[in-house]
Amino acid sequence: MDKYLINGGRKLSGKIKVQSAKNAVLPIMAGAILTDEQVVIKNCPKIKDVQSMLNILSYLGCVWHFEDDNLILNANGADKYTVPKELANELRSSIFMLGALICRFKKAQISFPGGCDIGLRPIDLHLSALEKLGVKINSFDNSFFCFANEIVGNNIYLDFPSVGATENIILASVLAKGKTQIFNAAKEPEIVDLMNFLNSMGAKIYGAGTSTILIEGVNKLHGTEYMPISDRIECGTFLLATAITGGEIELNNCNAKNISVLLHKLCDNTCKITINNDIIYIKSGLVSKSFSFSTGPYPFFPTDLQAQTMALLSVCDGESVAIENIFEKRFAHVSALALMGANITVNGKRAFISGVKRLKGANVCANDLRGGAALVLAGLNAEGQTTVNNIAHIERGYFELDKKLSSLGADIKKIN
Ligand code: UD1
Repeated sequence: MDKYLINGGRKLSGKIKVQSAKNAVLPIMAGAILTDEQVVIKNCPKIKDVQSMLNILSYLGCVWHFEDDNLILNANGADKYTVPKELANELRSSIFMLGALICRFKKAQISFPGGCDIGLRPIDLHLSALEKLGVKINSFDNSFFCFANEIVGNNIYLDFPSVGATENIILASVLAKGKTQIFNAAKEPEIVDLMNFLNSMGAKIYGAGTSTILIEGVNKLHGTEYMPISDRIECGTFLLATAITGGEIELNNCNAKNISVLLHKLCDNTCKITINNDIIYIKSGLVSKSFSFSTGPYPFFPTDLQAQTMALLSVCDGESVAIENIFEKRFAHVSALALMGANITVNGKRAFISGVKRLKGANVCANDLRGGAALVLAGLNAEGQTTVNNIAHIERGYFELDKKLSSLGADIKKIN
């Protein structure tokens, strides 16, 4: 199994370009099966989750290839409506095929999705919303058999603003008869991106980015060329990597508004931040001050940056509290950070962090995508060598993280 070897203590400096957002690209790839015409996803990151989604699309009968970083997809030959267990298990986002397949074929068969082990991650909101659209669902042995004579628009109220459920409802209802309204919808920028992508194919979706989304069903969608938004989580990870190493870098292809909650916290932490169009420049302060945060649905602090932020707070001056409100099992990185000398106590959804001067190298294991990234950040700070094992988790969401960090001056090597 691949691992990273990191010799900590180098300040990051230089420039890199942020990839397109994993969480925008994956539902967009599912949306590509809603037309028989060609879809081009520009600047598509070649991360493992994209490859897993491509495996599903190939199985369904779609053809695809990359031209440089552009993914060219054609679902004209798609003739299957089943996602087998082993493919669904590869990633959480396989669940987007449920909405897309039911929209295209009026039937879908899919197993419970895989993905990071960060909590229960049920799909009840997805399923009850589809039922509201006229879909009949039978479940057996963690597989779901869905069919509909007709998808008919309806009003759907989400008990929680689930990102995935909001996106699945959009995918399922875009070709429905009549209007669908989602109340208490999730407001994440990636949902706005899915709306913009589908609208560029001829869909009529309004209001994404607010808590009420209106979808007016259309008869047909056509092909498109689309550039997804930049990855706010990759951007945040590099900002935090700069802060934890006392460095100074320039990030291109950013949307600062989408990550303003972290930028404010880093300014409090004595980083100097300058924004110029899609460029964010960050210079770490001499002293890193502690801060507290609690995760929540957008525009609150993203749960996907909680672990990496905790790595930084482990070496900040003073006491911090991190509150995880989204996923109940998202502190798996704490024991590894503790092995590296961090002083963290977890009580339920709260983690109390007492900053130490510097972390120390250790042999640790990535248990999930973002927790794994946090260990890389910790390794960049640590005295001595850190081995991060099981980096397949990290590669699900970051493309060549080691090479990008090396280009910024980090001493990091991938070995197997
Ligand atoms: C998406 C993101 C993930 C991010 C998360 C929260 C993608 C591909 N993944 O995941 O990176 O961490 O949003 O910002 O975009 N829930 C239910 N029932 C459901 C659905 C969700 O109870 O049917 C609960 C979940 O267990 C969790 C909370 O709602 O506690 C948020 O989940 P959700 O917003 O759906 O996250 P994902 O779409 O899985």
